[in-house]
Amino acid sequence: MQTTLTDSAEVAADFLNSGGVVAFPTETVYGLGAGICHPEAIRKVFRAKGRPGDNPLIVHIYNLEQLADVAAEINGNARVLIERFFPGPLTLVLKKNPLVPDSVTAGLESVGVRCPANLVAREFLSYCSCPVAAPSANLSGLPSATSWESVYEDLNGKIDCVLRGKPSAIGLESTIVECSGSVPILLRAGAITLEQLQAVLPEIRVHVITDAEEAPKSPGLKYPHYAPKASILFCSPNESVLIEPSSAYIGLSEPPEGVSLFRICLNLEEYGRELFSFFRHCDAQGIKVIYCELPANCGLGRAIRDRLLRASGRH
Ligand code: TXA
Ligand code: MG
Repeated sequence: MQTTLTDSAEVAADFLNSGGVVAFPTETVYGLGAGICHPEAIRKVFRAKGRPGDNPLIVHIYNLEQLADVAAEINGNARVLIERFFPGPLTLVLKKNPLVPDSVTAGLESVGVRCPANLVAREFLSYCSCPVAAPSANLSGLPSATSWESVYEDLNGKIDCVLRGKPSAIGLESTIVECSGSVPILLRAGAITLEQLQAVLPEIRVHVITDAEEAPKSPGLKYPHYAPKASILFCSPNESVLIEPSSAYIGLSEPPEGVSLFRICLNLEEYGRELFSFFRHCDAQGIKVIYCELPANCGLGRAIRDRLLRASGRH
């Protein structure tokens, strides 16, 4: 299959509206979209990524009018979060509208819904004739793609079109909040922090993954994720570690002595934005070990920590 590169949201939406699969930029990471009214395109998304069929997709909407086509019920907690954080880097898990095909939600009774804030994403969605189901636009298990070049590297020849935009401003996937029951639950940390959520919904709980869990609340949580080919090891500021050959470092502090490649980030925002592209860069350079500074479990640090622990296989 030929993959068309375009800068035009309208051209990209034409591909989607005729049953194609289209990668597009958002403020979190690039998404790989298919119209929820095109079941064959949904199957193509799973095939192109090599994604297990039991891992549901997030549905992307342009405005609140479309929300009614996707969700069956929007309770008080959901309303509070929508009012405060839509459009933005937040996904709500709500009771599903029967119009959403089971292939999108992997047979669940709930659906993940997000309304991105990125202007190119919004222009693209405005031309799409139905809501757009989209996982992150990377091969399953690899770090999410935060630039169109990374999308192209993973998916050239497997998808119809890539809508080129800028590198993702946040660089980490959206915060996910399960909102279909009476108590909201944080399923995945992201740029909307737990503290921000607590400020409007003090009763929110944090989902804790247990190995014994038979039906995980978010099926994607059970799969290995975000992993570069290199191994991930953790180091604390000023700790002297025995450096493995061909190793790299990313974090907020000075790198350990002897690493061949490093990225010092000014703040957590930059750390989050750079993390996945640095992982990919390290793989391209044949780096074997990436030392990472593990931030404290608060604010944006919670999301970065979560991705690092998963990438290291410890979550
Ligand atoms: O920022 C993002 O969320 C990006 C952009 C493209 O929007 N998308 C993204 O999608 O990260 P993906 O497929 O890589 O991750 C979606 C996660 C998976 O872990 C999946 O299991 C979970 O959302 N999810 C989707 N629908 C769900 C549902 N109904 N209930 C629980 N978890 C759900
Ligand atoms: Mg993903």
